[in-house]
Amino acid sequence: MENKKDENLMENLISLCKRRGFIYQGSEIYGGLAGTWDYGPLGVALKKNIENLWWKRFVLDREDMYGMDAAILMNQNVWKASGHVSGFSDPLVECKKCKKRFRADQLEDQKKCPECKGELGEARQFNMMFKTHIGAMEDDSAISYLRPETAGGMFVNFKNILDSFHPRLPFGMAQIGKAFRNEIAPRDFIFRVRELEQMEIEYFVKPDTWKENFENFRKQVWEFTKDVGLTQEKVHELEVADGDRAHYSKRTIDFEFDFPFGRKELYGLAYRTDFDLKSHTEASKVDLSFFDEESKQRFLPHVIEPSFGVGRTLLAVLSDAYTEDVLGDEPRTYLKLSPRVAPVIAAVFPLLKNKPELVAKAREIFGELKKEFGRIIFDDNGNIGKRYRRQDEIGTPFCITVDFETLEKDVGVTVRDRDTGKQERIKISELSSFLKSHI
Ligand code: GAP
Repeated sequence: MENKKDENLMENLISLCKRRGFIYQGSEIYGGLAGTWDYGPLGVALKKNIENLWWKRFVLDREDMYGMDAAILMNQNVWKASGHVSGFSDPLVECKKCKKRFRADQLEDQKKCPECKGELGEARQFNMMFKTHIGAMEDDSAISYLRPETAGGMFVNFKNILDSFHPRLPFGMAQIGKAFRNEIAPRDFIFRVRELEQMEIEYFVKPDTWKENFENFRKQVWEFTKDVGLTQEKVHELEVADGDRAHYSKRTIDFEFDFPFGRKELYGLAYRTDFDLKSHTEASKVDLSFFDEESKQRFLPHVIEPSFGVGRTLLAVLSDAYTEDVLGDEPRTYLKLSPRVAPVIAAVFPLLKNKPELVAKAREIFGELKKEFGRIIFDDNGNIGKRYRRQDEIGTPFCITVDFETLEKDVGVTVRDRDTGKQERIKISELSSFLKSHI
């Protein structure tokens, strides 16, 4: 019997994430820092699994993709050329009475404060980039910004990739890394944060082929939502209208997800034309054009950009997986995570902790599986029922138990399925291929 309660889901999920070591509030012991979150051991494991699936699909499995890891701090001229210094802003309003600040475009009533009902002032544009100074001088020439998107680090390295690898079109650059946005109103747990992580591709194409490449990536984005196990009916496309798109985009599709707090943007797919290469060529005076050997022509490639938020993927995966049901007679909470992303694939138990022969065999199996899969844990704490509940709560798909029959009759171990609670006997020699078949 499955029963998902949307209204309490976020509260319960945030509490589970903290209790079980997925995600903690940033700087918590000092009262926190709004818009920042720290990933604990299980959160990091989930994040890495998601990033690895992305890297595999978009970099390792392809021949046309170049991985990157560019610096977060960049020359301020990068962000002047890209249009972020002049245009990366949200409308900010301040309440004249309580002095609280809000994003004007997210308010139902743009005149009245949603908190104290006081009068709101005029909206003004607020630039979301975090500004800092490099070195000891604090003059204008020392200004730098924490990058607001990872994309910039790829455009400025476009020529380096041409010179080092001489690729043919189409080809892409891919990067996973942090980006920073001074959001006026961070909210909804890790949905809108100030320090975020993106997985982005800048895919360079011949201008007249942009449509087919856009369509290819449109399919690939859907495939990735399957890789991480998202319920497909909760993912939706939104064609972003003229006027609502980012300044660099001629076409954007937002991939939205049904989060517990509503349907919101998960990923973006944009056609950035030659906007960036053109702007950086003009501003840096470095020629970023491409000589096409086939047509013997020189031109600026156009760009298709699929952009994925790591945190939003985690939140979609976690909220989709959060399940309350009754197994046997017992109510339980569990994460129905795909084995491909689950922080732990399998937990190994001895049936009883005070029987050295059971413990020794369980430890032996644990050691072998750990060497091969990494994401394996050993648990002999409390009774077996409690151990199952603990593993269910962190989304471990399989619990492997060594019992007396394992030792006496050579019939293998029991493997319990998280979702059904059903157990089957599996030979020890077949455990590895069993687990492999699920990831
Ligand atoms: N390079 C294109 C770009 O940055 P974007 O739509 O501003 O486009 C891309 O961001 C993705 O980054 C979003 O779809 C979302 O997944 C994630 N993202 C953006 N702002 C975020 C924030 N404040 N907190 C968490 N994730 C964010």
